[in-house]
Amino acid sequence: MLLGLCGQQLMIGPMMRLTDEEQAMLAGAFGPGVQKAIEILVALGAIYGADSLVPVISVQVAGVSYKNLGDAGLEFLAEWAAQGARVRVPTTLNPAGLDLERWRELGSDANLVHRLEHFASQQSRVIQSFASMGIRATCTCTPYFVGNVPACGDHVAWAESSAVSFANSVLGARTNREGGPSALAAAITGRTPGYGLHLPQNRRAQLLVEVHCPVASSADFGALGTMVGQAARNRVPYFRGLDVPRFQAPSSELGAGLPEASIDHLKALGAAMAASGAVALYHIEDVTPEADQPDLIVPDAEIFSIRTLAEGYAALDGEGDEIDLVWIGCPHASLHELRQVIRLLAGRQTQVALWVTMARQVRAEAEKAGLVAELETLGGQVVADTCLVVAPVKELGFRHMATPSGKGAYYAPGHSGLKVRYGSLEACIEAAVAGRWG
Ligand code: F3S
Repeated sequence: MLLGLCGQQLMIGPMMRLTDEEQAMLAGAFGPGVQKAIEILVALGAIYGADSLVPVISVQVAGVSYKNLGDAGLEFLAEWAAQGARVRVPTTLNPAGLDLERWRELGSDANLVHRLEHFASQQSRVIQSFASMGIRATCTCTPYFVGNVPACGDHVAWAESSAVSFANSVLGARTNREGGPSALAAAITGRTPGYGLHLPQNRRAQLLVEVHCPVASSADFGALGTMVGQAARNRVPYFRGLDVPRFQAPSSELGAGLPEASIDHLKALGAAMAASGAVALYHIEDVTPEADQPDLIVPDAEIFSIRTLAEGYAALDGEGDEIDLVWIGCPHASLHELRQVIRLLAGRQTQVALWVTMARQVRAEAEKAGLVAELETLGGQVVADTCLVVAPVKELGFRHMATPSGKGAYYAPGHSGLKVRYGSLEACIEAAVAGRWG
């Protein structure tokens, strides 16, 4: 990498300009932790052709579960924290490997606590490292449910593909799909390389998706997202014909005028597209904040017509009627989804484990509203901080899962060794009550 002074700014290679403060960070004036962070960002910027770093207003850091980090990742984080690295902007954290407060209650097996003890202790060291850098240990993939809500046009640096999709598409913020280290580096410096989706020209749609069939439930949106993600890969899709209700009067709340059900559907859609493809931004006609911009669809956009969701359901659904776990909350559930689960149970007892995973802060609201106790009375659990993709599922003893989440069904077989049945929330709740699928 070539370094050379250019007036007030340092040139990195042919393109990258750094401010005085950024040059000082690179020279080590803010300590080795900040120096390491800006070195990562400058290297990334050089690779992707960024001409400068852009300030970010918030960060979502991923790579939190000890299952994925292992001891090497834990030591890397602990060392970075020991170098004095502290975050400069509000920063939230992705799910960990366990419910940090109630992991002992996650299974009925008497040996479970013994099997999970080492994992829980290492996971807690991971969280301590992040917390010592000033990061809020929110442990959720829905930071937008716990106060990390950028406005339209804000630059942020978020990891966690489903949250990235939500931030870009539903909130209209600007972020690339960050990895764990690059998001952490952005938090420590308050900057990210200005390339990709930070630039308006890269937010145009290259795939026009024409939907000619009903898409009504979250599972439908997951199936649709799976199909479109596979077709789009990393392109930006633009949806026409998708019925996503809005309020009559737009509000300034999360999702700008979208009812709770629409928010649930959009998070399911974005998560599935990010899992089966690498979609980080989508637009929906008359719904998402950038969809009415002129020339948003490139003239040679490919057209993808969808007349049935059968292919998406088939890609996600497995075989067999055995079920030992029903999982709701991928991405982490909203209060609205928890209420739906309780309503569909209609006072009936579950025969198998039923997990609703959600942010700890949302769980606290649910607790206040009496929803946690209500679900527990019926045999279910509201589990915070984690999910079935990043948890040590083998140790927890689950083998056969039902879920209405496209992303959950896509990843659970490979990441957690689970056999998966995929269907509507109604079908999943009936499975929980019957103790078997179908
Ligand atoms: Fe969140 Fe885990 Fe799904 S991180 S998006 S609940 S795979």
